Amino acid sequence: MVKLTIDGREIHAKEGTMILAAAREHNISIPSLCDAEEVAPYGACRLCSVEITTAGGRQRTVASCLYPVEEGLIVRTSSERIDTNRRMLISLLLSRCPEAEAIRQMAARLGVTEPRFPPQTDNHKCILCALCVRVCEEVVGVSAISLANRGTSRQMATPFNENFSEACIGCGSCAYICPTGAITVEENNGLRTIKWPHSQMEFKMKKCSVCGKYWAPVKQIEYIARISGTPPQDYAVCPDCRD
Ligand code: FES
Repeated sequence: MVKLTIDGREIHAKEGTMILAAAREHNISIPSLCDAEEVAPYGACRLCSVEITTAGGRQRTVASCLYPVEEGLIVRTSSERIDTNRRMLISLLLSRCPEAEAIRQMAARLGVTEPRFPPQTDNHKCILCALCVRVCEEVVGVSAISLANRGTSRQMATPFNENFSEACIGCGSCAYICPTGAITVEENNGLRTIKWPHSQMEFKMKKCSVCGKYWAPVKQIEYIARISGTPPQDYAVCPDCRD
């Protein structure tokens, strides 16, 4: 275990734990938008930046989701400079996605009520945090979506920007993990529609042979059967009717 101090509180954390995770374990709040315990840290939003002083006396600002705990580390989660930076960052995000409730709430929490920059209208609530891309690659294991282009043209995209991704199995993990509601899943009459910021895709659902309920995309079931080595007919019945 490593001993460190966060906001004057002495805590212990397992070696290798990031400052943000260690803080959370001890109910110390640090603003963040692009981290989730299911995926590796990425450092996109920078809202989690904190000031640190190492045991050797070196001071700097780091993204707490990417910086591991160290013996004797002193962490300040708030200071005039940190708070000003956070307000600037959330102002930019508020201008990028003024319609995203999660961004408005985070902005209000940080004391920003009005965007300082002209609002943009074509980002469809996407803050480019890449949580969707990471969960698809790291957890689901299919890499159906990615972040494409550079600079102001950067966006979450399906391959070749078409309304289709051969690899996508329709599991909806991207929508589940999206912090702003930029990705949604709808189900209607045996069809699941996943809507991404700039494209969408439909998936035929499997009907339970017992209750008749549509319960999962056929492509997802085929994928699970393939990677688990189980026959597809094992999935004729939905989980509720299996118990
Ligand atoms: Fe650390 Fe976003 S949570 S950069």
